[in-house]
Amino acid sequence: MKTQKVVTLAQFITEQQALFPDASGDLTRIFLDLILAAKIVNRDVRKAGLVDILGTHGTTNVQGEEVKKLDVLANEEFMSALALGGDCCAILSEENDDVVIVENSFKNKPKYIVAMDPLDGSSNIDVNASIGTIFSIFRRRSMAWNPVTMEDCLQKGINQIAAGYIIYGSSTMLVYTTGQGVNGFTLDSSIGEFCLSHPDIKIPKDGKIFSINEGNYSEFPEGVKQYIDYCKENDNTTDRPYSARYIGSLIADFHRNLLKGGIFIYPPTAKAPSGKLRLMYECNPMAFIMEQAGGKASTGAQRIMEVIPEKLHQRVPLFIGSENMVKKAEAMYLSALTQSA
Ligand code: F6P
Repeated sequence: MKTQKVVTLAQFITEQQALFPDASGDLTRIFLDLILAAKIVNRDVRKAGLVDILGTHGTTNVQGEEVKKLDVLANEEFMSALALGGDCCAILSEENDDVVIVENSFKNKPKYIVAMDPLDGSSNIDVNASIGTIFSIFRRRSMAWNPVTMEDCLQKGINQIAAGYIIYGSSTMLVYTTGQGVNGFTLDSSIGEFCLSHPDIKIPKDGKIFSINEGNYSEFPEGVKQYIDYCKENDNTTDRPYSARYIGSLIADFHRNLLKGGIFIYPPTAKAPSGKLRLMYECNPMAFIMEQAGGKASTGAQRIMEVIPEKLHQRVPLFIGSENMVKKAEAMYLSALTQSA
C-alpha cells in the first residue's frame, strides 16, 4: 500500500523551531494564533455571499480607502487572536492609524512585533476574486521591560524574523518564510488543517508574465513605459511578448508569479509619486518571501528590505519577481531617470 505522510503546518513549525534549542516557543505560538485567525477569516470569506456581509462598511481606512465589512472582521480576528495569545508586544495593522500595544497580564515581556495587512485586495471581495492576509514578524530592539518605541516598530525589512501570507483563493493557502526558504500549505477544510503542499518554493529566474495596472501607463516614469513596451515586443530569442496578467490583488498577482515566474510592478505614478503599496504591511513581507524563493524585490532604485521606514503607513514603489526580469526593469527605470536628470 502506498502511503504519504501528511505534514500539518503546526507540526512543520514545531519541527523547524526544535532545530533551535534556545527558541522560547513564542514565535511558534504567534504562528498558531495567526493560523487560528486565518481559519476564522477563511470561514467568513467563504460564506461572505451567503450572509450578506459583502459590501461597503461605510467607513474609510487610514489610507482614505473604502472599508468593506470583511476588512473590519479580518482586522478584529487577527488583532484579537494575537492580543489574546499574548506572545507579541505590539501590532501594526494597515487598518489601524497607530501601533496597538498588547497589554497582557499573564505573560511577561513578549519580544515580537507583528505587522499585518489583515485583508489585502479588498476591492476584489465583491467580485469573488482572490484576497489575502499578509504578515511580518520582527523582534523589538529596546529592552523588553521598557515601553515599546517607534524605533522598535519602524525597522528595515532585513530585520524580519518571519513573513507570510494567506491567500483565500480557489483553495486557501498559507505561504511563509523564516529565512530558510519558502513553504506553502493548503487548507484541507475536511480536517481543518493547513497541510504542506508546496515545499521549498523557488521562483524561476526568468518568467513570462508581467503584472502592472497598465491603465496608469500615461503616468508611469519613462523607464517603466519602456519596460512595458519591451514586454510586449515580438522576439523569438527571449520568447516575447510576455503575457499580461493583473488581478489588482497583490497577493493573488504575487502568488501566481511566484509559482510560474514573472514580475509585478507598482511604480511611482504622477498621482502617487511613492507608489501605492505600503512598506511595512505589503512590500517588506513580500520582499522577504520573494528573496527567500530566489527572486528579487526593489523600489526600482533600492532593495526593498533596506529601505529605512519613516512612518507606519509609508508607501514605496515595488518591482518584485523573477530575478532577471526585475534586474531588467530596474536597469531601464534607472537609465531613463539618469538620462532625464
Ligand atoms: O494595496 C491594496 C491593493 O488592492 C493591492 O492588493 C493591489 O496590488 C493594489 O492595491 C491594486 O491597485 P490598483 O487598483 O491601483 O491597480
